This record gives sequence, C-alpha cells and structure tokens, in this order.
Amino acid sequence: MEVEIPYLEYFGLNEKPFGMTPDPAFYYESKYHKEALDSLRFFLSQKEGFALICGDVGSGKTTLSRIFLDSLDRKSYNSALILNPIMDEMEFIREVLKELNAPFEPHTKKELYDTLRTFLIDEYTKGRETVLVIDEAQLISNELLDFIRLISNIETDKQKLLHTIFFAQLEFLDRLKDDRLRHLSQRITVTCYIKPLSFEEAKSYIHYRLIKAGMKGTMDVNERALRLIHHASKGYPRLINYICDRCLLLAYARSQNGIDGNIVSRVLMDDNIPLSSVRKHEEKKRSVFEISLIVLNFVLILFILYLLDILKIDEIMEQFSYIFSFIRIK
Ligand SMILES: Nc1ncnc2c1ncn2[C@@H]1O[C@H](COP(=O)(O)OP(=O)(O)O)[C@@H](O)[C@H]1O
Ligand SMILES: [Mg+2]
Repeated sequence: MEVEIPYLEYFGLNEKPFGMTPDPAFYYESKYHKEALDSLRFFLSQKEGFALICGDVGSGKTTLSRIFLDSLDRKSYNSALILNPIMDEMEFIREVLKELNAPFEPHTKKELYDTLRTFLIDEYTKGRETVLVIDEAQLISNELLDFIRLISNIETDKQKLLHTIFFAQLEFLDRLKDDRLRHLSQRITVTCYIKPLSFEEAKSYIHYRLIKAGMKGTMDVNERALRLIHHASKGYPRLINYICDRCLLLAYARSQNGIDGNIVSRVLMDDNIPLSSVRKHEEKKRSVFEISLIVLNFVLILFILYLLDILKIDEIMEQFSYIFSFIRIK
C-alpha cells in the first residue's frame, strides 16, 4: 500500500526527499564518506586483513556499504552482505553461502566450512574474489567474531580469499580492546571513521536531496533554518532527514514556499529534539549583538551631542581633573 505524502505535489516533488531508508539513489558524497570508500578500495587492493568502518547511529554506514557493494566489478568480485549478525556460527555460515548463491546441503559446521572453502577456491580459479560485508558488527558475539576470523584464514599460497569488512557503531572499538579479541584486532589493517557532515556539507546535502526528489529550481531554506538544522542534528544525515521531512510538512500546512527558522524551531520543539545547545548558541550570539548595539548607540549619541556643541568635552575634562585633584588632596 502506498502512503500518500501530502506535500509532494505542493512542492513539485516526485518522491519523498528525506526518507529514512538508506537509499543509494540519494547518496551524497561527503568528505568522510569519500575517505571511507577510498580506504575500502585500498583495502581490496591489499588482499589481506580486515577493514572496519566506524560511525555513530545515522552517520551513513549502511548507505555506504550499499554504495561500496554496488561499485564492485561483478566480473572480479562476489559479495555477501550480512545486515543483522545476531546469530550463531552455523546460521552465519549458512547466511553467507545463501548470499553467495553457493549451493549447500550439509549440516555440520565442518561441512559448511568445507563448502565455503571449496566455493572460494573455485571462484578464485575463475578469477573472482569474494567480499564479505557485515553491518551492525558491534552486535556480533565474541564466539562468532572468532569464527569469522577463522573463515577469513581460507587462503591460497599467495593470498586470502575472503575479504571481510565490518561496519560498526563506535562501541565496537571498545570491544576490540578486549584481550579475547586481540587476534582479530591485530588483523584489522584499515580503519576509517564516518564523521558527521560539516555545515556547508549539510547545506548541499539538503539541496541535493530536494533536487534528486524532483524539485525544479531551489527551495528557499534560509541561513537561520540551516544553522538550526545543522546544530540540532549535529550533522548526522538521519536526523537531518527527520527534521527536514517534518519541516516540509509544516511549511505545507502553513502554505509557505520555503523553510525558515520559525518552522525549524517549531519542529524541534514539537518533537522534543534537544534545543539546549542550539538555544545557548543562538542566545550567546544575540546577547553579544545586543551589547554591541547599545555601546554603538551610546557612542553615536555622544558624538552627535559633541557635534551640536551641547557636549563640551573641554569642560567635562576640566571637571574630571578637578574631582581627581580633590580626591588626591583628601
Ligand atoms: N552520504 C549519504 N548520502 C545520502 N543519504 C545519506 C548519507 N548518509 C546517510 N544518509 C541517510 O541518512 C539516513 C541514515 O543512514 P544509514 O546509512 O542508515 O546510517 P547508519 O547505518 O550509520 O545508521 C538514511 O536515510 C540515509 O539515506
Ligand atoms: Mg545502519
């Protein structure tokens, strides 16, 4: 069943510009997403070890894993993507074989391991290597991590045959410090972090998504709105999407053509998205601005009075020196 999105027609959009699913068609290449992709390509050229891409929730790990897999040359690579690795060794190896379209029947762990091994060697002789991508790797049990290390040891005389990439939340790094995972962490040869979007990136990200969704021309999202969105989302694409989607809905409800600071503030307030840091920043900026304005006005008034000859600087200075000498005598 298709869900009707009320603002699409109003803004001249073909589809929802700020969806929550990791849709590769909307991929925007930020500095850190690009660095991560480059390091994965480097990793494949190295033909050894493991790669690890780390990032907070909503930073774009799943999106990036899809972009990476889509970019692989199918003539040279097979791939298996495991999205939810909460499973035991048997379930895991079955899942991997299924993803690789490798026929299997055997039941014991050893038999499954042998099937995978034969598959990897056969494919290698045909000129194809195999990439295993595991998303949400922070959820993998220690036992399964050890097993993954074991299957990654399958090799020819020259090189390993399975290239494993973990996409994980930051807590995975802490787990890797555990002595029991020492062997695995020593074999991670490429580690990369996906950091949030900068303000400029968030700005282009928002416009890019609107255009991708079919908008003709540009939508007026003013500077204050963009600043608020960036502060409140801290630059994480998932939160940017959430806030922007709600803003479009509210702009539509108010019959506005663009998004301004008022709309964003309202959305943040209604959805309880923490405003404290945003407010503090805005208030600090405002109070510095107000104080400068008061000082400027005061100086201006003094200057006008001086020009009008009402303010006699010489007389004031005389008065001051009189007061000072009086104080000194006392
Ligand atoms: N580089 C990007 N380009 C376009 N959209 C992105 C990008 N990174 C993240 N997103 C969007 O942000 C949301 C969260 O991304 P996701 O890949 O699920 O993050 P994570 O897996 O790190 O939690 C998705 O809606 C996704 O489309
Ligand atoms: Mg994810």
